[in-house]
Amino acid sequence: MKIFLDTANLTEIREAVSWGAIDGVTTNPSLVAKEQREFFPLLEEICETVGGPVSMETTCRDAAGMVEEGRAFSKLHKHIVVKCPLTKDGLKATRQLTQENIRVNVTLCFSATQALLAAKAGAFFVSPFIGRLDDISAEGMALVRDIKTIYGNYGFATQILVASVRHPLHVLEAAKIGADIATMPFSVLEALVKHPLTDIGLERFLKDWEQLPPEARHSQSAPLGSGASLQRVKK
Ligand code: G3P
Repeated sequence: MKIFLDTANLTEIREAVSWGAIDGVTTNPSLVAKEQREFFPLLEEICETVGGPVSMETTCRDAAGMVEEGRAFSKLHKHIVVKCPLTKDGLKATRQLTQENIRVNVTLCFSATQALLAAKAGAFFVSPFIGRLDDISAEGMALVRDIKTIYGNYGFATQILVASVRHPLHVLEAAKIGADIATMPFSVLEALVKHPLTDIGLERFLKDWEQLPPEARHSQSAPLGSGASLQRVKK
């Protein structure tokens, strides 16, 4: 399963890229507004930093406006995927942009019938918002399962991008269902790394290692930590 970061914050994106953890980024008007930076230069810098699909959301309500925005976004960088809401106008814009070979992420999906229409309009990604469904006591993951079943039944190429992810169990369930992508805030990505037994195990290894006299720990010629051995290894 691919992992995307759900943020417009470059510090978080750079950090996640340095872990080799992410394959793309999703943004939305709320996340972009938080950065208080000019829209296009920010999204261009995000594209240069992540090297994978970057979703950029339209803010017009009418199809013609969304298509115009989508054309402008797609000229900004090859990694841009245009985000359109799952409304009638959003479906119209998705169909038009897809016919112009511009990839569309249909967002704000809350039902399997909505997702069916997004796939029929030619969506590249569909984004079911699972956390916001959980918020109203509806089971967000049930929607992902239904979309997976329907898309499988009819061989739709639309990729399922699980969005509004709130915790690691959402990521685990998405992967077990076989979703194509999960997008998450940096805090959830960080939580995926953490495990108390990993920390305890590492401390125990290092404490035991300290029992070994220093002179016995490293080769004399290139004490590790000096980087010398890395050069030697590289040669
Ligand atoms: O980017 C779309 C989505 O992931 C937003 O999620 O956390 O605002 O419900 P959230």
